[in-house]
Amino acid sequence: MSEQKLLGKRAIVTGGATGIGFGIAERFIAEGARVIITDIDAAGGVSAAAKLGANCQFMHHDVSLAEEWQPVFALAEEAFSGLDILVNVAGVTHMGTIEEMSVETWDKTMAINLRSCFLGCQGAIKLMKNRGGGAIINMASVSAFRPQAELVAYNASKAGVDMMTKSVALHCARSGYDIRVNSINPGVIQTDMLKKVISQVEDGEALMDSYKAMHPIGRIGEPKDIAAMALYLVGEEASFITGASFTVDGALMNN
Ligand SMILES: NC(=O)c1ccc[n+]([C@@H]2O[C@H](COP(=O)([O-])OP(=O)(O)OC[C@H]3O[C@@H](n4cnc5c(N)ncnc54)[C@H](O)[C@@H]3O)[C@@H](O)[C@H]2O)c1
Repeated sequence: MSEQKLLGKRAIVTGGATGIGFGIAERFIAEGARVIITDIDAAGGVSAAAKLGANCQFMHHDVSLAEEWQPVFALAEEAFSGLDILVNVAGVTHMGTIEEMSVETWDKTMAINLRSCFLGCQGAIKLMKNRGGGAIINMASVSAFRPQAELVAYNASKAGVDMMTKSVALHCARSGYDIRVNSINPGVIQTDMLKKVISQVEDGEALMDSYKAMHPIGRIGEPKDIAAMALYLVGEEASFITGASFTVDGALMNN
């Protein structure tokens, strides 16, 4: 077996019950890390942790609520005596144009997709700043760059994640903290979120075909494609990389 890249590292991955979060947790554990996955889906989280084995723990967690972050960081202190990596993955897509969307749906999307990253970064920096060697990844999307009329809140939340990431990275760098903060912007990835989007439209098959056609590389992505980028970004070889956003999209943005 080749050398494990994250041996001894301690990570929190939100939204780890399924999809991209699960894929990242799985890869990190395969590379020697101990991982706390959190999710609002308790049954999914418990079953994911069972699949991921002894180096994984699950904690029920609503990422949009400030008071629910404290127990997650307390578990990291208790179980791991600290934290090296936070990956903010949990997110939702609510469809709707500016004319259709309710203010409640707008606020909910912002709270789950954007406020969560603010809360996670704030708490993680407190844990990491005196120890150094920290890495944070926030999951954005190509939707941060490419508007879709029916994704008004999602577009805005993901653009917010990217810019907030840069601001936090700048603060950490200028403060002399050894904490790098980056975002990943996936193209369309085969997950439950995608299934939900497909199920919300009349002709799901046609939408799926159009998603495939959007990616010049000839396929949509898989969680492992995003996990590979996450592994690179939290590792030693990325030590000069902070405040950047990484598009992983089979050339969708060039199409
Ligand atoms: N799938 C894609 O095509 C795609 C593309 C670009 C970006 N993304 C982003 O990647 C991230 C993961 O997406 P995915 O496709 O794996 O989604 P998914 O729906 O498969 O998984 C998301 C997970 O987040 C959890 N979650 C939702 N609300 C939560 C909350 N309030 N607190 C805690 N957990 C919560 C869900 O229970 C679920 O387990 C999201 O931020 C998404 O916006 C996905």
